[in-house]
Amino acid sequence: MATAVYPGSFDPVTKGHLDIIERASSLVDELVVAVLKNNAKTPLFSTEERVNMLKDVTGHIPNVRVESFGGLSVEFARESGAKFIVRGLRAVTDFEYELQMAQTNRSIRPEIDTLFFATELRYAYISSTIVKEVASYGGDISGFVPPQIAEKVYEKLASVRG
Ligand code: PNS
Repeated sequence: MATAVYPGSFDPVTKGHLDIIERASSLVDELVVAVLKNNAKTPLFSTEERVNMLKDVTGHIPNVRVESFGGLSVEFARESGAKFIVRGLRAVTDFEYELQMAQTNRSIRPEIDTLFFATELRYAYISSTIVKEVASYGGDISGFVPPQIAEKVYEKLASVRG
C-alpha cells in the first residue's frame, strides 16, 4: 500500500492545492493532507479551521485524509507510513526552496522521496498569500478558491478587522 503525505500551510486551501490533491490521490492508495501547526508564518486561519476547510473540499475523494502535524514533515510522513512527500511546483521561483527541502528531507529519511507535481498552468500564479491579499481589498477570489472557502476568507478578514 503506497501512502503519500502532502504537507503545507493551506492558509487557505486554493484551487491549485486541490488540483495537486486530486492528481496525487489518483496515484497512491492513500493521500494524507497534512496541515502544519507550528508555522513560522502567522496563519490567518487556525489549524482546526484549515483542517476543516480541507476536509470540506476533499470530501469527494475517498482516499484522502486530512490531519495536522507539528515538527518535521518528513518525520510525520514516516509516522504515517508514507513513502512519498508530495509538493507542487508553480514556477522556477519555487524550485530552489523545494529542492533544498527535498534534499534535506532525503538526508534525514532516505527511504522517503519527494514527488513534485507541475502545477496546472491556469493555477500557476495562485498562492494562499495572493488570495488573502486580493480578498483584503475586497477583490474577487472566486477564480482562486472553491466558493465555500471564498466565503470563509471574507468572513475571517471581516472578523479580524473587527
Ligand atoms: O504551504 P507551504 O507553507 O509552502 O508549506 C511548507 C511546509 C509546511 C511544507 C514546510 O514549511 C515544512 O515542511 N515545515 C515543517 C518543518 C520541516 O519539515 N521543514 C523542512 C525541513 S527543510
